[in-house]
Amino acid sequence: MTIEADPTITRPRIFSGIQPSGAPHIGNDLGAIRNYVKLQHEYEAIYCIVDYHALTSLHDPERLRRQTLEMAAALLALGLDPERCTLFVQSHRPEHTELAWLLMTVTPVSWLERTPTYKEKKASQPDDVNHGLLTYPVLQAADIVMYKASLVPVGKDQAAHLELSREIVRAFNARYGDTFPEPLAVHTESPIVLGTDGIRKMSKSIGNTIDIFAPEDVLRKQIMSMVTDTQRILRTDPGRPEVCNVCQLHRPYSADFERIWEGERTARTGCVDTKKLLLARILEHYAEPRARYAELMDDPDGVDRILADGAERIRPMAQATMTEVREKMGLR
Ligand code: TYM
Repeated sequence: MTIEADPTITRPRIFSGIQPSGAPHIGNDLGAIRNYVKLQHEYEAIYCIVDYHALTSLHDPERLRRQTLEMAAALLALGLDPERCTLFVQSHRPEHTELAWLLMTVTPVSWLERTPTYKEKKASQPDDVNHGLLTYPVLQAADIVMYKASLVPVGKDQAAHLELSREIVRAFNARYGDTFPEPLAVHTESPIVLGTDGIRKMSKSIGNTIDIFAPEDVLRKQIMSMVTDTQRILRTDPGRPEVCNVCQLHRPYSADFERIWEGERTARTGCVDTKKLLLARILEHYAEPRARYAELMDDPDGVDRILADGAERIRPMAQATMTEVREKMGLR
């Protein structure tokens, strides 16, 4: 685990958010969720399923409701323990949108227009360039500072958003006095996981994911269709594990990954063998969470109770921040 800069505060509060894009893919887990699980034991941890953010791209109410439940069940199945951390749904704490509005008034539009994700979304959904896409990072900053979190476990793809959060904090503190800490990103050992195409980051919107909780035949299809070392044409050609995404993914899932890489280098094993082994290792790694996920999905009321309890638990923190901010900004 690497922390981008040395936090001076001991036992800082951790916050992170994840979109309700259905059950997560291995990129979410390797890049962020494993740190959520680990850090809940060391810090005061708050995790949020960001349904307001999802509305910038998803306009199907039934799907949003179902995917929010799936994400919650998946996070619990992967090891978030409601006794050790707080898990809640963003829209259950409406203070987030109020704080986002207040932070918008210290955020120049030019900062938002230059955000890479805004430019990407403008290109990928040209018929739906809604205002939420532009102000998305301000809501993200509000999520984090609401709880005065100083560490944020995220994948590297969130770097620009985190930097913007820091800039917004600086702008707010400069105008209204020291109020919020500047949040730092915390990364895992796999801060960017490539998708099955081996080129772009793994992402639901691209459709290049390996889905942790998918039925076995879907997982098999996803893994067997992975792009490997494109220069390895013949079965007898030596492979290059350094550039082969299948080999790279063995690193977090196979303790014996060096042996597997050696098999590739010497052409003792072929790409198909290495993929089959990866499927087996991933199924083995997630066997318990997959079983637990099925149980949780059978008990949606139980999951809803955990989420409602989480939102209630952090109510005093959110309200205290709003009181402080309203007062500092001159609202009566
Ligand atoms: P989201 O939902 O796209 O992703 C959730 C987490 O998974 C990480 N991640 C990856 N890590 C490595 N490789 C990948 N291919 C990969 N794909 C996803 C992300 O970096 C992220 O940590 N804007 C955020 C949600 C958000 C948030 C927040 C995050 C809203 N408010 C406050 C932190 C703090 C997002 O869309 O993440």
